[in-house]
Amino acid sequence: MPHRPYVIDRMISAKRIAARVEALAHEITDAFQGTDKLVVVGLLRGSFIFIADLVRELDLPVEVDFIEASSYGDDMTSSREVRILKDLRSGIEGRDVLVVEDIVDTGHTLFHVVNMLRARKPKRLEVCALLDKPSRREVPIKATWTGFEIPDEFVVGYGIDFAQRNRNLPHIGKVRFTA
Ligand code: IMP
Ligand code: MG
Repeated sequence: MPHRPYVIDRMISAKRIAARVEALAHEITDAFQGTDKLVVVGLLRGSFIFIADLVRELDLPVEVDFIEASSYGDDMTSSREVRILKDLRSGIEGRDVLVVEDIVDTGHTLFHVVNMLRARKPKRLEVCALLDKPSRREVPIKATWTGFEIPDEFVVGYGIDFAQRNRNLPHIGKVRFTA
């Protein structure tokens, strides 16, 4: 699908992201102190870089697992219908779970995933989201930990894509159409 030309304006530098990830990891380490093993659940694909950086800063025994959820929206708008394309490999009943998401936008994806996982009776379930766009929220859901609150802009980089591009940018930038 051809796209309108755009440029990417830097919004959050790699250095600021790294500092924030380290701070989040300290808070999460404190919160789950004493766990025998924390199941860190990444939502594919947008969280893959964030989860990689985050788990390396956690001073806890961890296990990493992934869920892939998809919405039927186009490249820039999320739909309200959420489907699970790939589920967890491990059971989470009675376990400590941390869900790691790239962006909470309308909230539908996280709402669906959290409700599904809570039904499996984890001992404790918390959410860490790198970015939050509170002004876009359509369902009442909030991450336990948020990296950065951002305005209603379409962002890319650090794992986050626009039509599958720009995931490999080391910083987070916003998409600005030039035509
Ligand atoms: P929600 O269900 O509307 O909260 O959407 C969450 C998902 O939409 C995120 O996990 C992203 O994959 C995607 N998304 C939301 N905002 C953006 C953005 O600004 N850039 C890229 N993807 C986004
Ligand atoms: Mg996503």
